[in-house]
Amino acid sequence: MSKVTVVGAGNVGSTVANVLAHKDIVNEVVLLDLKGDMAKGKALDSWQQAPIDYYSTKLTGTASYKDTKGSDIVVITAGIPRRPGMSRDDLIATNAKIVVSVTKSILKYSKNPIIIVVSNPLDVMTHAAFKASGLKSNRVMGMAGILDTARYRAFLASEIKCSPKDISAVLMGGHGDSMVPLTRYTTVAGIPVTELVEANALKAIVERTKKGGGELVKLMGTSAWYAPGAAAAQMVESIIKDDKRIFPCCAYLSGQYGLKNMFLGVPVQLGKNGIEKVIELKLNKRESNMLVKSANHVKDVIKTFTKMKLV
Ligand code: LAC
Repeated sequence: MSKVTVVGAGNVGSTVANVLAHKDIVNEVVLLDLKGDMAKGKALDSWQQAPIDYYSTKLTGTASYKDTKGSDIVVITAGIPRRPGMSRDDLIATNAKIVVSVTKSILKYSKNPIIIVVSNPLDVMTHAAFKASGLKSNRVMGMAGILDTARYRAFLASEIKCSPKDISAVLMGGHGDSMVPLTRYTTVAGIPVTELVEANALKAIVERTKKGGGELVKLMGTSAWYAPGAAAAQMVESIIKDDKRIFPCCAYLSGQYGLKNMFLGVPVQLGKNGIEKVIELKLNKRESNMLVKSANHVKDVIKTFTKMKLV
C-alpha cells in the first residue's frame, strides 16, 4: 500500500495529483487544500478520468490533515505563485509561514514521510520544511532541477528539430536566474550538444532556460504548472518504484561541492530512501564559480528565512 499526499490544490498541486494518478503506481493520492471544496472537486474530476485513461489510483480531496494519515510521500505545493514582475524570492514572507505550518501539520499524522517541496523560493522553502520537520536530510528534497532541465531540453529539441526524448542534460544550483546549466554534460542521443548546436545559439538557450519560469509568468500572469507538476510526479515515481534514477534535485549538502548545511540543486539518485546519493561532478573553474555564486544567493535568502524565526 502506498499513499501520497499533495498539499495545495492549485494549478501545480492538482497537476501533480493528476499526473501521478495516470502513472498508476500508488494506491491513493490525497489532495489537501484549505479550500476543501476545490480539493474535493479536483480529486473527483481526476477520479472520473480513471475509467477513460485506465488507472486505479484512488483520489480524494480534503481540507483535513487527518485524511493525510500514514502518507509515504508528501508533495508540498502550497503557497502563492509569482505574478509578473516578481522574483521567486519575493514570495518568502508569505510562503515560509505556509510551508512551515504545512510541514508541522503533516508530521502530526505521518511519522516518517518523504517530503518533496515545490513551493518557492524553492531552495529556501526546502530548507524550511527540513527544519520544521525534524526528518533526516535524505527524506526532504525540492523539485526544481527536473523542471529547469526539462525547459532546457525542450528548447534544445526545438533548435535541433529532434525529439526531446533524446536530450540528456544536468543542471545545478538554485532555482532562480543564477542556476547553472552544464553544457559540457549535455548530450543528444550520446552526441555532445556542442557538435549539433553552434555556440551562440547554445548560449541563448542557456539564458532562456535561466529565465524560463519568468517567461511563463509573463505570458500567463501566474507561474507554470504542467511541467512543474509532471516533474514532481517523476520524483515520486522514482522513490515509490525504488528506481534509483539520477535527476538534478534540490538536496541537502553536507560538504559536497564544498557546501554544507544548505539545500541546493545537484545531481542525485532517488530511491526508496529518498535522496540515496549526491553525485559529485568534477566541475571546472568556470562552472564551480557559477555554482558558488548561486549558492551565495541561496544563502542570502536563507538568512532572511532565519530572521523570520519560524523554526
Ligand atoms: C517555475 C516555478 C514553478 O519555474 O518556479 O515555473
